[in-house]
This record gives sequence, C-alpha cells and structure tokens, in this order.
Amino acid sequence: MPGDKSMSHRAAMFAAIAEGTTKIGNFAASADCASTLGCLSALGIGVEREGSNVTVKGAGKNGFTKPKSDLDCGNSGTTMRLMAGILSGQRFESVLTGDESLQKRPMKRVIDPLTQMGATIASENGCAPLRIKASGLAGLEYRLPVASAQIKSCVLLAGLFADGETTVIEPTPTRDHTERMLRWFGCELIEETADSGKRITISGDHVLKANDFVVPGDVSSSAFFLVAAACLPGSSLVLENVGLNPSRIAVIDALKRFGANIDIQNERIACNEPVGDIAVSGLIAQSGESHVLKGEIIANLIDEIPILAVFGTQLDGGLEIRDARELRVKESDRITSVVTNLRAMGAEVSEFEDGLKVERSNLTAAAIDSFGDHRIAMAFAVAGLLATGETEIIGADCAAVSYPSFFEDLASVRR
Ligand code: S3P
Repeated sequence: MPGDKSMSHRAAMFAAIAEGTTKIGNFAASADCASTLGCLSALGIGVEREGSNVTVKGAGKNGFTKPKSDLDCGNSGTTMRLMAGILSGQRFESVLTGDESLQKRPMKRVIDPLTQMGATIASENGCAPLRIKASGLAGLEYRLPVASAQIKSCVLLAGLFADGETTVIEPTPTRDHTERMLRWFGCELIEETADSGKRITISGDHVLKANDFVVPGDVSSSAFFLVAAACLPGSSLVLENVGLNPSRIAVIDALKRFGANIDIQNERIACNEPVGDIAVSGLIAQSGESHVLKGEIIANLIDEIPILAVFGTQLDGGLEIRDARELRVKESDRITSVVTNLRAMGAEVSEFEDGLKVERSNLTAAAIDSFGDHRIAMAFAVAGLLATGETEIIGADCAAVSYPSFFEDLASVRR
C-alpha cells in the first residue's frame, strides 16, 4: 500500500518546524501530500524527494520565510486546516488557497478557534482563500464542536506557538496521529480522559526535534482492496505493512463483523504507530441480519464510507449508515455522490440527510461520475468489478489525490 496520507502530511509539517533534518520513508504518492510539500517549500523549507523518500530540513518553530505568493493546498483539506494552525503562529502574513472543491469546504471550524487564540483571519464567508495575519497567540481551552482530527490538529499546532497551554477537548474520538507523532518528534503532550471526553494539552514552550519516520501503508487505501477481495469469490490477498492505528481500523472491524474473511497478521509498533499485514479472502459469510453503522464509530471510518456502501450492496439485509453528515462537506457531497452512482448501477438506495441505506442489489455497469472525488472514483471501480458489464468512470484521474497508481495496482491483482 502507498504511504498513509494523514501521516505523510503530518510527518512533513512536523519535520519542517522541528530542529534538524528528518528523513521520511514511504511518503504517500498522493497529490494532496505533494500540496503539503509544495507549501513547505514555498515557506523556505528545504524539501528533497526521491521516489517515496522525502528529506525535510527542519527550520525550527520560527524558521519559515514569508512566501512570495499564495500557498496552494490543491484539493487537500488536511493541508489547509493544519497549515492554518502553524501559520497563525508566524510573524508574517500568508494566504492559503486551493482548488474549486477546497474553496467550497468549511473553514470556519478552524477560523473560530484560531481567532479565539488571537489570530486575524480574513476569508470568503468562512471559505478559502484564508488570509492569515501575523499576531501573537494565547493558549486556549477548546471543545471540538465537530468530530474532526483536522480541527484538533490545527488547534494543537497553533498551541505550539501560543503563550501558555492549549487544551483540546475531544468528546468523540478521532484519529490520533498528531498526538502520536508530536511525541515522536520529542514534544510532550498531556492526555487525560475526562467525562467530557479526551483532553489533550500542549504547551507553547515546546520545540520539536528531527526524528526519521517511516510511513505505514494507508489503511484507507487498503479498504478498496479489502472489499474487492472479500466480495469476489476465490480471491486471496495479503496487504503488507499497513497502518493499524485503532482510530483508523473501524473499517476492518465493520467488514469482519459483516462477514468478510479478514485476518490481521504480524502486528507490531513502528515509529509510534501500530502496523501489520492484512489477509483477506473472498466469500462473505452472510448472517441475513440487517447491518447498521452509526454513532461515534462513524468518525473512525469516515473516509471509508463510500466503499462500505458498495460493500453493502453485497450483504443480505443491506447496510444503513447514519450520523454521517460530515460526508456532505468532504471533497464532494459523498452522500449524494454515492447514492447517485449506486442508483445508476441499479441498486436500491434511500438517501437521508445524515446517511443512506442500501439494499442487497445486483449491480449493473453504468457511466459513473467521480464528482472529482478520489474516494468515489476508487469505490466505484470496485463496484464496477462486482457489476455485470463494463463500467466507465468519468473523471477517474482524481484517484491521484490519494492514490495515483490505484488503477494499475488493482489491475495487477486481477486474475
Ligand atoms: C484527516 C481527517 C479527516 C479525514 C481526512 C484526513 C486527517 O477529516 O476525512 O481525509 O488527516 O486529519 P476531518 O478531520 O475533517 O474529519
């Protein structure tokens, strides 16, 4: 699997504000992560890339130089939201912008806490471009209004530049790569469990120290192969060196619970992150029961919902997904994108404001619209494998946002 996208972004950003040079191995091939490297280069950071190895010459917390032009985050929400936290702590003004999709995504969720910390951020009605003015930051106690690792990370990163302590309260658990990786870079965090949720405290005194990091394979990318292999009888596949962080593997647990034949092997810890191999083989053990995904778990499988919905078409009893409103503000409105495309393939689907319900359906080939969204393109490539006839995915190139070699890799494991 290509390197994990969430971890690659963080490794590059944290290395840039650390003291010393960090070598990052298995850096994600994703266009989103290239956007992060582009922003860091534009901020004067030495970044060298050779295949999947990236070397970042850390400049310390105050080593960025004022960029000559706007910083282009491309399609990447993680780049924009995490960089907004770091840039709010700088002494110069900067502008974060992105492509058409990113300019429509909600940024008020990071503008609000950063403004409360003392940053001045001008936006287009809460959307990018974001013009961030140099200002001193003060520590903040902030309760996340949305279950979002991007907001949590943004506030913690700003906290690294603030006077005093910054605490983020997380009522619903989200991916914890930022916490783990800040520690990997020598930054102490206090993590406490309270009735209100997890409390994470960072102090503005801390500095980060370079530390080489090898990025595990991306479990979100692996989900497409897990579903394809689980649904195609006779398949057998082992995905090696995949990140198995507990806050990311809800998709594996759900697939197993719904009857997929998946086995985790060689579990170990590498660079503070759990890693292992995932073996999957074809034929779903149907229980005939109805299947529902809802509540807190949704935040831990948010990126895998499009492919889980495709999996739902193969389940006796179908699959209902609720509490997933956040999907409406991803790279596309993923509820509408999935419902539209599943219907085009003949599936019986109901759309809800916060999710969808798909019945077991025989899929037939169709012309699929990727809606410019990488996870939709890849989920429906798998749907195409399960359908009778030949499926065409319009705008399939967008898979490169997270996984440029997806179609080659998928073809390579087809018999
Ligand atoms: C990410 C967090 C999630 C996820 C995105 C990557 C991250 O977004 O959907 O693909 O790297 O922190 P939210 O935090 O906005 O839910």
